[in-house]
Amino acid sequence: MSLERSFRLDGQEIPFTQGQTLMDAALAAGEYIPHLCHNPVLAPHGSCRLCVVGIKGRYVSACTQPAVAGIEVDNSSAQLIGYRRALVQMLFVEGNHVCPACEKSGACQLQAVAYYLGMLAPHYTHFFPRRPLDASHPEFFIDHNRCILCELCVRASRDLDGKRVFAIAGRGTGSRLVVNAPSGRLGDSGFAATDRAAHVCPVGAILPKHRGYAVRIGHRLYDQQPISRVGDVAANERDP
Ligand code: SF4
Ligand code: FES
Repeated sequence: MSLERSFRLDGQEIPFTQGQTLMDAALAAGEYIPHLCHNPVLAPHGSCRLCVVGIKGRYVSACTQPAVAGIEVDNSSAQLIGYRRALVQMLFVEGNHVCPACEKSGACQLQAVAYYLGMLAPHYTHFFPRRPLDASHPEFFIDHNRCILCELCVRASRDLDGKRVFAIAGRGTGSRLVVNAPSGRLGDSGFAATDRAAHVCPVGAILPKHRGYAVRIGHRLYDQQPISRVGDVAANERDP
């Protein structure tokens, strides 16, 4: 007996099975819901709020909301896109995202989703925080200026690598990514280039050394197709 049921996403029928979230079912059906802190191989986190969708006038995060048969889900109203664009604009001003100089440019999910949402300028006042760069590891570096605190590396290290190399410390605007080593430096932690945590960062915050700008402009991942077609997993699993 099939347990498959369906809901409607912008009027399109999306099948789902018991236990799937709106995000799981939409992605499985080839429909894109913008997201940054979601990765299908990790437990949902619900922190970036970019995947917000509308159900009967209420806004919920699609990555944590279980699918329910028969509901109508708004994924594309102008108001919703405006909310999502504002969230991305806030992320851009909260850190230091200098896209033209970033090795991840063209393969960065934050940049790609900003294009997808029609963001033309950051709109808000830049914070210009002073954040460090950790180049202590021989193969990877962390540029904290680009971290969006999605906790994908935290979850991947803990849940996939069984290591707990990363954690988030502080609260609110004082939140920051920290490395679990007495010195706080990546090179003194148990981090290895083969860790899954080394390859899940959606932006250019955790990057391999010695190979930046390897792909020509015009040939980078999101130069070819928008993020709504490429998705995030391929981007995460590829180095820039
Ligand atoms: Fe997310 Fe990357 Fe920051 Fe880790 S370093 S929390 S993966 S943005
Ligand atoms: Fe759903 Fe981030 S992808 S809250």
